[in-house]
Amino acid sequence: MIVLDRENRIFTLHTLNTTYQMKADQYNVLLHTYYGSRIDGCDLSALIQCGDRSFTPNPNEAGSNRNYSLDVMPQEYSTCGVGDFRSPSVELELKNGSHTVDLRYKGFRLEKGKCPSEGLPGFYGTEDDAETLVILLKDAAAQVEIELHYGIFENYDLITRAVRVVNQGTDEIRLCQCASLCLDFLRDDMDLLTFNARHLMERCPDRGPLRPGILSVGSVRGISSHQHNPFVILCDHDADEDKGMCYGAMLLYSGNFEAAVECSQFENSRLVMGIHPYHFCWTLEPRQAFTAPEAAMVCSPDGFGQMSCQYHRAVRKHLLRDPYHGRQKPVLVNNWEAAYFDFNADRLIDIAREAAALGIGLFVMDDGWFGTRNDDNSGLGDWQVNMEKLPGGLEDLALHIKNLGMKFGIWMEPEMVNENSHLYRAHPDWVLHVPGRAPSRGRGQLVLDFSRRDVRDYIYEQMKAILSGADISYLKWDMNRSLTDVWSAGLSAQRQGEVYHRYVLGVYDLLERLRHDYPHVLIEGCCGGGGRFDGGMLYYTPQIWCSDDTDAIDRLRIQYGTSFCYPACTVGAHVSAVPNEQNGRVTPLNTRGITAMNGAFGYEMDLGRCTMEEKNEIRRQVKNYKIHYDLLHYGDYYRLSSPYQDTAYTAWEQVSPDQREALVNVVFGCADTVPLFCTLRLKGLDPALQYQVDGTDSFYSGKALMNAGYPLPSVQGDYTALQIYLRAAG
Ligand code: GLA
Repeated sequence: MIVLDRENRIFTLHTLNTTYQMKADQYNVLLHTYYGSRIDGCDLSALIQCGDRSFTPNPNEAGSNRNYSLDVMPQEYSTCGVGDFRSPSVELELKNGSHTVDLRYKGFRLEKGKCPSEGLPGFYGTEDDAETLVILLKDAAAQVEIELHYGIFENYDLITRAVRVVNQGTDEIRLCQCASLCLDFLRDDMDLLTFNARHLMERCPDRGPLRPGILSVGSVRGISSHQHNPFVILCDHDADEDKGMCYGAMLLYSGNFEAAVECSQFENSRLVMGIHPYHFCWTLEPRQAFTAPEAAMVCSPDGFGQMSCQYHRAVRKHLLRDPYHGRQKPVLVNNWEAAYFDFNADRLIDIAREAAALGIGLFVMDDGWFGTRNDDNSGLGDWQVNMEKLPGGLEDLALHIKNLGMKFGIWMEPEMVNENSHLYRAHPDWVLHVPGRAPSRGRGQLVLDFSRRDVRDYIYEQMKAILSGADISYLKWDMNRSLTDVWSAGLSAQRQGEVYHRYVLGVYDLLERLRHDYPHVLIEGCCGGGGRFDGGMLYYTPQIWCSDDTDAIDRLRIQYGTSFCYPACTVGAHVSAVPNEQNGRVTPLNTRGITAMNGAFGYEMDLGRCTMEEKNEIRRQVKNYKIHYDLLHYGDYYRLSSPYQDTAYTAWEQVSPDQREALVNVVFGCADTVPLFCTLRLKGLDPALQYQVDGTDSFYSGKALMNAGYPLPSVQGDYTALQIYLRAAG
């Protein structure tokens, strides 16, 4: 709900549990007055105190009033060069060479519902479930208008932010920084949580207190990256899953980003999040506009659990555009870890036949089916089927798969090219490269310049030929290196600072075209696993291969970190063979199944090599997944323990929206000869209901399960797992 106090120029955004407030003050500066637990009917600007402080300048119109300084007061969208020395949100270079920005309130407008900005990903909602407020700020000297867009999704405690910069002058200007979100706090006694690490170990949480200066994470790799995720949390020092104030900030962007938190001299703090300023410079001709990507904030006064649930619900309902909306997605089998590049049609059909017999509904042919792609040094860019491997072509293979009662999917890596390819030989100038420098390779490949329309159009035609030439209902869109040598032949020297962002816009453009022309095709994002797992990609690819690490125990950590923001249905997760291909670990098949079915579930192994006992187990898993599909995909997700802190077991739980069903998942650690007796306290149940443990005569009240706990059995062997299904009695 948006509450406007026109007279006092106060804008209050209420969600179910939270309130966000801004106020335009006597000098038309837009101050941020409050963000936190819901408070109705208040002007919270009295919280802002200001006094004469040395070396904190006073705006000219304040005259002799030394008590007023931008450097002290919480700003809604921070400026630079005119008295606020903390992190700027926006920086401009004018024709006269100046870099100062001074923004003053001009007005506002309300819009119905909530639409993503054109060409960018974003949360969407109708007027029944979302509202939009646009606040207009202006730098009169620069003739620049800045629109601050706020989307309010009340039921989810979610507020989106986006920023549009319009050049209203007659000269060209250069935008050197344009953050999506600025969030000032009148406190700095908080922790910052970030989600980091590397390829094969993505999104590991890291937590630490703010300290004087700037703490930041980001990416300059051209992708959101395996190393840092564009999602951060600020929270009370003692916040945990169940209590404490937490502020989540998610950037819906798949390229270079930065999230920086600065603590100021007066023990306030500021989070600025948006496109990374490195090599970003956007030229705006008169009357042109630039829109910064969207950010989405969830504030939870009740700990991380509630924050995650709200993100999950909002992402599922208002961000994903899933062709299977309201229907079950089939369980998939992917041939990558089963065969790598070494396959032909017969081998693939064998894997598919085995899979079909086990209830698996989608066969995905991974890398290696096109051009001269027999290893990862050649063929990328040549999207013509390799007739030696698949003599009947894609159409014939797809038909075979269909006759097995399955859907057919393929892998592509549209943004890339190998030098050993027809495409590169024909268009060596189409790759990102700096004139006079030989470009760096990554995985033996170069990056196509997706900032260029002609390059994208060519690739799109190739993709269309493939997708229209056979019955294909799934596409794995991969991307296997970071960007280097970022320079485009399509732009002038002055505009080279636009390439990184135009590249991302190019990826979004092609994905949107695909979605439009092939609405039935489910696109799974992938970037060497989870190198581009972000809210931006999720708008186009409703599931993303979470990590190239398929080891169930490592996955517990990766999926745990991912779950803070992203719902399980978006997390591509497969059962693979043991010893695991990445780390040699051996885990029981049941454990691999339970871990993977807490995501977009599939198998990635040669099912023909499974024993009869293993096949029976897989058949049981697939059936179980289908039975609990709604709980697994749409249930509220609760982390019951942390794989980083507990070594005895890792547990998590899904609860149906009506609280009548729950699925508890537990994966134990290494065998303990004399294990301790553990009770697991559950969450999210209805305290008044009696729950029956499936397959037993045991009943427990919700109150008992949440306060006293459920007695875990002692287990034998390393990494065993169990799944407990609870259903309300009566
Ligand atoms: C990436 C993906 C894998 C697989 C290979 C194929 O590494 O993450 O799942 O598709 O590429 O080359």
